[in-house]
Amino acid sequence: MKVIITKNYDDLSKEAFKVMKDVLDEKGNAVLGLATGSSPEGLYAQMVEDHKKNGTSYQDVVTYNLDEYVGIDRNDPQSYYTFMNDHLFKDIDINPENTHVPYGDTAEDAKKYDDAVKGVDIQLLGIGRNGHIGFNEPGTPFDERTHIVELTESTRDANKRFFDNDINKVPTKAISQGIGTVMDAKKVLLIANGADKADAVKAMIEGPVDVNCPASVLQNHPDCVVIIDEAAASKLSQ
Ligand code: GLP
Repeated sequence: MKVIITKNYDDLSKEAFKVMKDVLDEKGNAVLGLATGSSPEGLYAQMVEDHKKNGTSYQDVVTYNLDEYVGIDRNDPQSYYTFMNDHLFKDIDINPENTHVPYGDTAEDAKKYDDAVKGVDIQLLGIGRNGHIGFNEPGTPFDERTHIVELTESTRDANKRFFDNDINKVPTKAISQGIGTVMDAKKVLLIANGADKADAVKAMIEGPVDVNCPASVLQNHPDCVVIIDEAAASKLSQ
């Protein structure tokens, strides 16, 4: 695990962009594993800016997102499908047919998506306050594939800011790539910022590899880059 600590969120997004750009430069038809949440917004803004300024093309790029809520419409403003269109897809030249966001509420839907996710060159991840990646909550077996998840109170509480600050409006379930699916990616890029991620970041980097901190599994990934700002790094012992 390679750890890069940056001064602030802006620098974090620029560093993350460099990692992403290297993959795109190496392979015009790269397969990107993408994530939602606040953490990647700066990186996506960098990608859009670079596309507009330097013409980096996404015409042959294929994307697979990590997760989606169950029970809200694709076109709902809070769906991760809408998030990806708003923050990235609508502003780059990607073919909509090459973009994939999981959808559905059955084991069959999950299996179908898992079977489709193939050959991811780089998987982008954020981290939840409890160490979750995607929507793989603490306790999820490391070999789990794409599945339907019951969201924890902590995750719903963290995400209520997108739902009028009302936890009752936050869906209770999601469809998420499993940790086994994520670990199949050739490279993993995890980004985290802010003091409320400091405990999760410490457990991920310095704690034991344990299902209680799903992100700790990344210690076992052969090519994982973690980029965090000083606030998220504040509890690390070195
Ligand atoms: C959400 C998402 C994750 C995301 C994480 C952190 O619940 N399912 O994919 O990485 O929590 O979100 P944020 O970046 O907004 O802190």
